[in-house]
Amino acid sequence: MATIHKLHQPDERGQTPSLLTLEGVWKRFKGKGSETVAVKDLNLTISQGEFVTLIGPSGCGKSTLFNIIAGLTSPDDDGVVTLNGKAQRGDDLLGKVSFMPQRDLLFAWRTVLDNAALALEVEGVRKSEARKRAQALFPEFGLDGFQDKYPHELSGGMRQRVALMRTFLFERDLILLDEPFGALDALTRMMMQKWLLDIWMRHKRTVLFITHDIDEAIFLGDKVVVMTARPGTVKSVETISLPRPRDTDIVTTPEFMDIKRRLLASVEEESMKTFNVAGAT
Ligand SMILES: Nc1ncnc2c1ncn2[C@@H]1O[C@H](COP(=O)(O)OP(=O)(O)OP(=O)(O)O)[C@@H](O)[C@H]1O
Ligand SMILES: [Mg+2]
Repeated sequence: MATIHKLHQPDERGQTPSLLTLEGVWKRFKGKGSETVAVKDLNLTISQGEFVTLIGPSGCGKSTLFNIIAGLTSPDDDGVVTLNGKAQRGDDLLGKVSFMPQRDLLFAWRTVLDNAALALEVEGVRKSEARKRAQALFPEFGLDGFQDKYPHELSGGMRQRVALMRTFLFERDLILLDEPFGALDALTRMMMQKWLLDIWMRHKRTVLFITHDIDEAIFLGDKVVVMTARPGTVKSVETISLPRPRDTDIVTTPEFMDIKRRLLASVEEESMKTFNVAGAT
């Protein structure tokens, strides 16, 4: 097998430093007389430079987990979240990671360029400077010539690229992407996956990526994290040692199929619990 292309630099002991650690994290939502346990005793470590994908049944707590990591939802008091070696409390995490939520949230009244530049403006960068820096990324994101259009004038794939560009412009070590390609057709999705890997390898960032698509999870990931049905916790972590750079035809190799079969069975078992399908335990 060809050499595995790794971006993260091991330290002198040959270990890759961890960027984010979650230890025993819980999140309970309290309603009128009821409680939903969304996240339960969750443990996870993400190393510098890794591309980690996260799969699990609908409603198992994936987006809640992202909200916790982004500092938008506070976890319960049990558990510790550590970023760059420092334990994070309260809303410490706000603004420390780049986050693309499940919906692209582009502003309809802002042009594409101004939507992208927003990531820098919220950091206090002057508008003209923010536009200049955003402008520089347009060719790489396949959007050159569309700077002055409005979001409704773009295709679904282009809108996703604008949202991704905005996320990349908010320069943080860790990027959270919540089903960024969920709404795209299979072909566009495949092109976007290849393109994203290319961008990731060039920008050397750490990515945590939620998807429902097992092929996508394996194709992109250094690791695939499988979550249980709600209350969501980590069921297993599969290391993907497929060589990089990866071509789309890798999905037909026996190694890929093997991993896919295993992960499919694991996710299906959890989904059956969620949907109460006959045969579920
Ligand atoms: N703000 C909230 N208040 C109350 N309950 C919430 C809140 N946010 C999420 N939940 C509940 O937490 C659980 C997990 O939701 P979450 O959005 O994290 O799931 P998910 O894994 O992202 O699902 P999907 O794959 O469908 O996007 C659900 O039962 C949901 O109803
Ligand atoms: Mg979600």
